[in-house]
Amino acid sequence: MPKDLQCLARFQEETEFKFLYYTSTDSTNSEAKRLANLSYPEWTVVLANEQTSGRGRHGRNWHSPEGRNIYMTIILRPPSEEFHYNLINLSAALSVLEGIREVMEIERVSPPPIASCKWPNDIYLGDKKVSGILSEATFKGNAIDYIVVGIGINANITQEELPHELRGIATSLAIETGRHYSRGQLIKSILRNFEKNYRMLYTDKDYILNTWGQNSSTLFKKVKAYTNEGLIEGLAEGIDERGFLIIHTPEGKKNINSADILHLR
Ligand code: BTN
Repeated sequence: MPKDLQCLARFQEETEFKFLYYTSTDSTNSEAKRLANLSYPEWTVVLANEQTSGRGRHGRNWHSPEGRNIYMTIILRPPSEEFHYNLINLSAALSVLEGIREVMEIERVSPPPIASCKWPNDIYLGDKKVSGILSEATFKGNAIDYIVVGIGINANITQEELPHELRGIATSLAIETGRHYSRGQLIKSILRNFEKNYRMLYTDKDYILNTWGQNSSTLFKKVKAYTNEGLIEGLAEGIDERGFLIIHTPEGKKNINSADILHLR
């Protein structure tokens, strides 16, 4: 295991998380689904040093070079009736944001780049994406069997190593701050926050909705939302209790479940 990930062996003894580490896999989400189908429990984390077919939202590719970044997927088995499973995305995005901020503080990055959440589940540093989340739910009848929450974070990839088509829109912690980060330290901070935020969904989901909102770059902006049903344009007013984005349009309010969002101002 690479040196910067070795601290996770101790971390898993102190927490519920149990890691399965892969030098290389096709996609940690695909592997997590295979394991979940074999009854692997909640809190299993599939972690890879490289993905050969990393997947993004809407069937896109996720650039996953060896040794540079974080590719991990958490298996969860939430009860269907407690909260809408979309809220897991918001709590995961919030946890990545909090984890990144914590590590920048420990490393005394000054001033730290501004980190924010873009709906539904992207994390930005300044105006570029540093992390994305792909959650996939599998049902048994009407009930959730399991959810895999896949988190990709550009930690140490350099500007030169970013593919040309990503250079204007993506960034990494290293690019923004000129430092090299221990992926293990980042993973520990993110997962500690995730455990807290995921448990909070059972007891106080408004806390997650409010905290996500306070850290969101999407709310109160004019947006274009490219949904499966077509383009919706208007003011992003809030999120409802399922984590859907509420857009105020000339035709009235629309609550949307999933879309690619363009911020207009
Ligand atoms: C997106 O913003 O489009 C979501 C990107 C999610 C990427 C992560 S990397 C770990 C996990 N495994 C995958 O194949 N995808 C997710």
